[in-house]
Amino acid sequence: MLELRQISKTFNPDTINEVRSLREVSLSIEDGSFVTVIGTNGSGKSTLLNAVAGTFFVDSGSIHLGGREVTRWPEHRRASLIGSRSRSRCRQASKQSTRWCRSAAGSAS
Ligand SMILES: Nc1ncnc2c1ncn2[C@@H]1O[C@H](COP(=O)(O)OP(=O)(O)OP(=O)(O)O)[C@@H](O)[C@H]1O
Ligand SMILES: [Mg+2]
Repeated sequence: MLELRQISKTFNPDTINEVRSLREVSLSIEDGSFVTVIGTNGSGKSTLLNAVAGTFFVDSGSIHLGGREVTRWPEHRRASLIGSRSRSRCRQASKQSTRWCRSAAGSAS
């Protein structure tokens, strides 16, 4: 199971470019489920996926994966638990895989 507990992420805090991308987001995803994240441009979809992947650390809240708290795990360590697919490969693999889809460049887009 993947569980997010009230995670928040603000880019460029306390500057003119401040963006509160995630505000206390909570969700639970059961093993074996297939989930699609939908939202308008700039609504925070990639930020959500990158927070799970560990591209950056969230400012607050916690992330739990497979019964372990991974909130402060670096990205390379989480890679043992999280699959990575490019958008095109993700489409091809989507019927077989429930793993997170991330771009070939290393971060979700
Ligand atoms: N590394 C970053 N530095 C500064 N701001 C960022 C960063 N990443 C995302 N943002 C900002 O956070 C907000 C959410 O962006 P995000 O990329 O998560 O949206 P998205 O839902 O994936 O959008 P799209 O549909 O265009 O892919 C946007 O305002 C974006 O400009
Ligand atoms: Mg995106």
